[in-house]
Amino acid sequence: MLSYRHSFHAGNFADVLKHLVLIKILEYLGKKDKPYCCIDTHAGPGDYALNEDYALKNKEFENGIAKLWQRNDLPDGVAAYVELIKKFNTTDELSRYPGSPLIIRQFLRNKDRLFLYELHSTEIELLSVAVSRDRCIKVFYEDGLKNAVGLLPPNEHRGLVLIDPSYEMKNDYQRVTETLVQMHKRFATGTYALWYPVVERSRNQQLERDIKSSGLKNVQLFELGIKTDTYEHGMTASGMIVVNPPWTLAADMQQVLPWLAQVLGIDGAGSYRIETLVGE
Ligand SMILES: C[S@@+](CC[C@H](N)C(=O)[O-])C[C@H]1O[C@@H](n2cnc3c(N)ncnc32)[C@H](O)[C@@H]1O
Repeated sequence: MLSYRHSFHAGNFADVLKHLVLIKILEYLGKKDKPYCCIDTHAGPGDYALNEDYALKNKEFENGIAKLWQRNDLPDGVAAYVELIKKFNTTDELSRYPGSPLIIRQFLRNKDRLFLYELHSTEIELLSVAVSRDRCIKVFYEDGLKNAVGLLPPNEHRGLVLIDPSYEMKNDYQRVTETLVQMHKRFATGTYALWYPVVERSRNQQLERDIKSSGLKNVQLFELGIKTDTYEHGMTASGMIVVNPPWTLAADMQQVLPWLAQVLGIDGAGSYRIETLVGE
């Protein structure tokens, strides 16, 4: 049974990086008139109240979106992200944070489509409310890693698959690579964005080795760390592995990641990585 609730973590430093990369990919897809299809395999509840119990328990958003909220020296890419989050807040106060489904919805045009998967019984109900009455969006109470592959290739022949697991199951690290390979076989030109946490660095090293030996090509990695790696409990960094990234993405991230590492890093321990894991 799944127990992870993203409400505890909404708006933290990991969401900042994940949603920045997501926005940059969606901006790029929206540059052409042709419609695209977006699949979010791990959608979560979609909408988060930062002034309620879950978010207030550990106040993770305080070292994420809250640190950027009132600044007037944001690099362009970060400014666009903060502007988007501000649209979900009716006052100057930060009280609401949109999850990936609501962020993606902001970018959808008439003919674009969004498919959302969520497997937690409570989250799926919240998600259905958060995105109700939108004919471009379809929600599935199903295993996104297993079933989303069936949607590929999409009729649009353009699109993004966001894979954002909670890594609750030990085999999730292995499953994500297998899923990426299966999806890529059916839709080789699609863009795939896989989020990962750094909790135990050896797992990430294995994930990177698996990706490198998987046969996937054109893979970039973007990582933001706020603490040095440790064997103690807790996430020190997180990243996005992007297959077929927009050609502009690495330069976009170069503009924001060094700045974010400085601003969000704790006691000067911020770090970042921008790497080509596999060439074209
Ligand atoms: C990290 S959260 C998603 C956050 C969301 N993508 C965002 O950026 O706002 C991961 C979600 O995946 C759900 N989940 C876990 N395993 C899943 C699976 N196999 N298929 C679909 N959803 C799953 C969890 O219940 C949780 O809500």
